Amino acid sequence: MGHMRSFREFLMFGAAAALGVAGCRSLPPSKPASQWTPEEARGARIFAANCARCHYPTTTAGLHGPGLQAITKRKAMPSGAPPTEERLTNLILRGRGEMPGFNLDQDQLGDLLRYLHSL
Ligand code: HEC
Repeated sequence: MGHMRSFREFLMFGAAAALGVAGCRSLPPSKPASQWTPEEARGARIFAANCARCHYPTTTAGLHGPGLQAITKRKAMPSGAPPTEERLTNLILRGRGEMPGFNLDQDQLGDLLRYLHSL
């Protein structure tokens, strides 16, 4: 009996450890479209028109650029830079490496940033 119990504890510990590891790696899910604010919905349209050909928004899988799920909730973006409004604004307006810069006005940029925060 004692042997059985320690085996069960061993299994439970293993499961908890596995969950712990998965928990650290998994990012929070993106906000569903049904819950978008008007700003986020406008930002999503700007994303679809300008960014979607190179980025998946709701996974971390790469397309031409990295997947952007939880991009503003991570400590660092793939480049290593923190996802601050300033960094994101510079990146979007000026581009980086293979990513072109975009000619967006302040309102469009604001909506796009709100959308990126929802991912
Ligand atoms: C032509 C393809 C392309 C388009 C269009 C594009 N990107 Fe990118 N993006 C890239 C590539 C490639 C990288 C990786 C750049 C690097 O670090 O060298 C990248 C990187 C990024 C990163 C991570 C930056 C970092 O510091 O790691 C973000 C965030 C991003 N893009 C957002 C956007 C947004 C928002 C748009 C639309 C306004 C957009 N991208 C449009 C190709 C693209």
